[in-house]
Formats: sequence, structure tokens, C-alpha cells
Amino acid sequence: MSTVQIYCNELRSPAILSSVNSSAFTSMTNRLFYGDNLEMLRQFIPDNSVDLCYIDPPFNSNRSYYQLYNNQGNQLRTQAFTDVWIWDDFATAGLSQILDNYQNKFTAQTIDLMAGLSKVLGKGSLLAYLVSITLRVAEIHRILKPNGSFYLHCDPTAGHYLKLILDAVFCPVGGDFKNEIVWCYSIGGKSNKRFGKKHDTILYYTKNTETYTFNEKDASICRKPNSHMKVRTDAAGRHYQQKTDKKTGKLYKYYLDEGKIAEDYWTDIETLNRQDKERLGYPTQKPEALLERIIKVSSNEGDIVLDAYCGCGTTLAVAQRLNRQWIGIDITYQSISLVLKRLENSFGSDVLAQIQLIGIPKDRESAIALASDQSNCRRTEYEKWAILTYSNNQALIQEKKGSHQGIEGLVYFLGKHGEFHKIILQVKRDNINFRDLDKMHEIIINKKASIVIYIVFEKNTYLVEKTQSYGFYYDRIDKNIYPRLQLVTIQEILEEGKRLKSP
Ligand SMILES: C[S@@+](CC[C@H](N)C(=O)[O-])C[C@H]1O[C@@H](n2cnc3c(N)ncnc32)[C@H](O)[C@@H]1O
Repeated sequence: MSTVQIYCNELRSPAILSSVNSSAFTSMTNRLFYGDNLEMLRQFIPDNSVDLCYIDPPFNSNRSYYQLYNNQGNQLRTQAFTDVWIWDDFATAGLSQILDNYQNKFTAQTIDLMAGLSKVLGKGSLLAYLVSITLRVAEIHRILKPNGSFYLHCDPTAGHYLKLILDAVFCPVGGDFKNEIVWCYSIGGKSNKRFGKKHDTILYYTKNTETYTFNEKDASICRKPNSHMKVRTDAAGRHYQQKTDKKTGKLYKYYLDEGKIAEDYWTDIETLNRQDKERLGYPTQKPEALLERIIKVSSNEGDIVLDAYCGCGTTLAVAQRLNRQWIGIDITYQSISLVLKRLENSFGSDVLAQIQLIGIPKDRESAIALASDQSNCRRTEYEKWAILTYSNNQALIQEKKGSHQGIEGLVYFLGKHGEFHKIILQVKRDNINFRDLDKMHEIIINKKASIVIYIVFEKNTYLVEKTQSYGFYYDRIDKNIYPRLQLVTIQEILEEGKRLKSP
């Protein structure tokens, strides 16, 4: 049995979540890991086991990113992840692992490069970021099959340093740099003080120089017409332009629907705009078309695709649609919850049965371990996990207003006359008493909630009787009554599978 530890970017104190037997994985299940990808890769993903890995890690942008939820015309927002790096004990330990060649994981070039970069850059946020990526890329190289491919999505903030790192990890041991793909888009990046920033960079490497999957047909795109020449249509309805062969001087038909291998700058895939159907409100969500090209070109049906920073699951959703097996990892429960919801919405609830979830609290003890973590960020993760799990990933998460810390969940349901009613979900980490219940009752009154649910560790008959003194919500549609104040324990959620029953 091995132990899963997870970390947050800004406060990465370890929280022991659950014990998972790594030999328990079945070959055809998809796997979704909640936790730090370094720990997950090291503990659970065997050498030479993955066909394709795409990652879209934070870009070192020094920003926090927020998940936006549409809430009947208003937007709710809550922090999704942070991209702020500091030189701390984790960075020091990570750099030592590289310089000391921990478990023989690093090439001599990687060690020399990081030693050089630490002199040039000094021990600050950029080096902390590069150390973190180097540790993970070395693991990704290990777990790729000998004919596997790797795509790292970044932008010009640190892309030039990342290319040095990938060269040092891949090339000295038989790997190869294939392309620097420039993904151009038209949205965002404008400024009056510099040129508009309109592209991301995707660095493409293979573990072997010659033997790797590259499906030519899927790498092909339609030709672009030359804007100075007339587009003609032949008898079969195909569009072409008339061109002159430079060698022979003869005219020939240049058919626009005939594919050619795409060049390394991609202008035919746009970023998602606010109105896009695909959009889930997740910051930095990538378009499915982008992942579709990468997955189709560099893998085949049945292959294993890994996204170690999976966010809202774009890679995983496309891999599922294209009949690939997949592995996703993310450090925040909000992402894990969004992935589950996205897959269920796109492929039906049966798809959930094929997913092995690893790293989430499995019992009361591991839930307590997360809830009592020293790090504020980890404790908030506990609250998000509890609310999202109990609400079947339906709750909208929002930061509590005023002096209260923490977060709460909101679930809406329709009343008889089409009006919206609100259920508020809150989590209490300590023991509760009658005063807490009175406070919760105030929430019902002040926030005009129809029902308030308190997720707790313990409840007893006195507390349950007291909750009933606050009255009931009668639903005129399903003709059921619901206590206005409800208590549900972590044990009920985990062991009895108790889930929110909304009117
Ligand atoms: C740029 S987003 C990825 C977006 C994704 N490509 C999509 O289309 O939704 C980066 C993600 O990496 C996650 N992340 C950051 N550090 C991580 C770590 N050490 N382990 C696992 N996930 C991490 C963040 O929570 C965030 O969801």
C-alpha cells in the first residue's frame, strides 16, 4: 500500500488523503487522480506505459485564475488555481533532487542546465517554476512508451527556458525535438505599449527519433486559397485555383480540398470566446479542436493519453470521444468535479463507471486529515470536495461574503411558478452545537434560502431534533417535505453514498 500526498501551489503542506494499492489498477479503466502530479506520476504510473502526453501547466504568469459560473444572469466566481511561484522549501528540495540526481532520474545535461540556470536566474520565482516543471517532465519522459510523444503547451513568458529543459531531458537519451508549434488566435493580448500577444507555443518531442506515431492523414489540413487568384468550381462542385507549374510552365488545378500536412503555425483553430458552446467557465480552457489534432496525429484508438495538468478535462473529453484510454491529474477538486460533470454531460452517466478515482478521501480518517491540514488552501479544498461530492458535482462554489472565511455551495431548483429557490451547502470542520444551528437558521432568513445543509463530522439525536424545530420546505411539485435545516455527515456521504436530494 502506498500513500498519496497532495500539495497546493502556494502552500504545499502535505495532506495524507488516502491509501491506494497501486497494483489495483485494471488495464482498460480510465484514471482520474486528485493530487500533485509529481507524487501521482512517481507512485502510480509505471515506466514506458503511456503513448501520448499533453500538458498545459501554469505559464508562470504571476496571476490567480478564477472559475466563472453563470448564475441566472449574474456571474459567480471562485479561485480555480494560482500561478504564483516563490522560492520556498519545496523549490530548494526540488533543486537538490535534480542536482543530486535523485534516483538517477536526470540526465547530465539537465543537471548542468539547472545548475547554470540557478546561477543566472538566482533563487526566485522563475527558478522555482522551472524546477517544478523539470521534476515533472523527467517523470513524463520515464512513463512514455519508447515510441511515445510529448506536447508541452506554454507561452512566450517562459517557453524559451522550457525548451532548454525539454532538450536536456529528451535529446541526450535518444529523444527528439520535432516542432515548436505556434498556435495563433485573434482574441485577447492587445496593448498600446507593445505588439499584441496573439500566440501560444506548443513544444513537441518524441522519446525516439525515428519510431513514433505520426498519422499523416490526421495532420493534414485543407489548403488556403491564394487571395489574389480566382476560386473556380469544377463540374463535380470541387473548388480549385488555376496555377502554373514552375518547372513545366503548364497550368494545373490546385484543389483546395486536398490536404497537406499542417505547418507549424496553426491559424485555423480559434480560442474559445465567452459565448462558445464548449465553454465551461474554466479559466485557460483549451478548445477541443486543438486537442483533437494532437491526439489524432500522435496516437491511435486504444492508446493511453495522459494529461498531468488536466484542468476542466479538455484532453480527457477528446480522448474519450476518440476511443483512447486516458489518465488525468489535477491538484484541485474543482477541476476533478468539472471533469466528471463534463464527461457525464457529454457521454452519459455510464462513463463514470469506467473511471477510477484516485486521491480523494475514501473514509472519515482521510477526510479528517484533509480538513485539519495546516494549510488554509488545503482546508478549503476539503470544503470544496465535500460540497461537490455531496451535490453530485452540481453545486456552484462561491467564496463566503464578509468576514467569514471559506466557501459555500449553491444549488438552485425551480418552484411551482417557475421561480428559483436556493439551497445553500456549508461545511463545518469542528464539532457543532445549538448556537451553530441558530446561525445557520439566520442564513435561511438573511439569504432567503429555502434549505440549508450543513456537512459535519458528527451529529446526534439532539442536534437532529433541533434542526427539525426550524420547520420544513413543502415542495408543491414533488409533494415532499424537506427539513429547512439539514445535517449530513461525512460518514453518510462516504460510506452510505448519501447524496443531495433537491426538490
Ligand atoms: C492551465 S490549466 C489546464 C487547462 C486545461 N488544459 C483545460 O483545457 O482545461 C492548469 C491546471 O493545472 C493544475 N495544476 C497546477 N499545478 C498542478 C500540480 N502540481 N499537479 C496537478 N495539477 C496541477 C491546475 O489546478 C489547473 O487546473
